[in-house]
Amino acid sequence: MGIASEILSSLTNSTSEGEVANRPIRNALTVLFWPVALPYLVYKFVNMFRRRFGLKLRPLEGKVVVITGASSGIGESLAKLLYEDGCRLILASRRIEELERVKADLVRSRTYGPVYVPAIVQLDLADLKSVQSKTSEILQIYGYVDILINNAGMTHRGDVLGTSIEVDQRLMSVNYFGPLALTKGLAHSMVERRSGRVVFVSSVQGKFALPFRSAYTASKHAVQALADSLRAELTDLGIKVTVVSPGYVKTQLSMNALTASGEQHGQMDASTASGLSPDVCARKIVDAIVNGDNDVVISSLLPRVAIFLRGFWPDFFFWLMANRARKELNLSS
Ligand SMILES: NC(=O)c1ccc[n+]([C@@H]2O[C@H](COP(=O)([O-])OP(=O)(O)OC[C@H]3O[C@@H](n4cnc5c(N)ncnc54)[C@H](OP(=O)(O)O)[C@@H]3O)[C@@H](O)[C@H]2O)c1
Repeated sequence: MGIASEILSSLTNSTSEGEVANRPIRNALTVLFWPVALPYLVYKFVNMFRRRFGLKLRPLEGKVVVITGASSGIGESLAKLLYEDGCRLILASRRIEELERVKADLVRSRTYGPVYVPAIVQLDLADLKSVQSKTSEILQIYGYVDILINNAGMTHRGDVLGTSIEVDQRLMSVNYFGPLALTKGLAHSMVERRSGRVVFVSSVQGKFALPFRSAYTASKHAVQALADSLRAELTDLGIKVTVVSPGYVKTQLSMNALTASGEQHGQMDASTASGLSPDVCARKIVDAIVNGDNDVVISSLLPRVAIFLRGFWPDFFFWLMANRARKELNLSS
């Protein structure tokens, strides 16, 4: 308090006559001094620490990041975190009004440090021809992309024999061929710059298959294989590939799922409703990007055990899945 009073008395330049008159001002300034000075000193100290030890508190600051499926769920949560981290975001999906809502929420939110107004691109991953032209639109925004997050996706409910081939094709288009086309378009520019990261939001169902989800699980297995090949091919060119495989996350995924005949499932499944929060899932995805991880499972213990059993005791796993299929059939009949 002594130093503060000394500084303040020199600031108020008090004389013996003026001292009495100045006392309320001086008291007010003394009270205000520490609340202002303390955060300032902490800020200065943290900055000095960062410069001294090369520590970056916002390691992705300024990166150009494309997020597909940014209009809801995990993609929206990713947008929130990466906006706060000072990334230059390009938000993509089909529903432009939802992207505008996400953008408005971001711009209104309180952040610390520099931020950039997100760009929006309307993108339908099922329309492969348009995906190719959209890559040029995306590249025109900043001239390059640092990180592509292939997050958009959809699921389905139905048995293999009863699901129409159009539904199978749609799932493969949205979850596999669309992201593949986008990755081809954008990764070329990463290769030219010898820098970049491609992230695939897969699923634990990209590592083992559940009954009555064949199209979804097949598309996610395809994504896993694509990512593993791509990683091997691009490692020496400076491009990193990350696959994240969440278990159940509480989003609109099951509501938007297609039935065997291609209608909207329209139900929030109990497993999805009790899943991880999308914000928590997004935080783990951002951590995986920052840490440079290749392959990350974001789930509770049970899916991890299933992954283990599928790899090391497949016959037992197949027996468990047959039981599960039998139970689901009994429940639905
Ligand atoms: N929720 C889970 O339990 C869970 C678990 C594991 C993995 N995942 C994966 O997480 C990712 C995100 O899903 P979510 O859970 O956040 O579900 P969500 O809330 O339904 O979000 C799906 C997103 O994908 C976009 N999308 C759907 N079809 C598209 C298309 N044809 N073209 C472009 N964008 C399209 C949607 O936007 P528009 O409708 O505006 O196009 C939406 O933003 C998916 O890849 C999903 O497989 C989810």
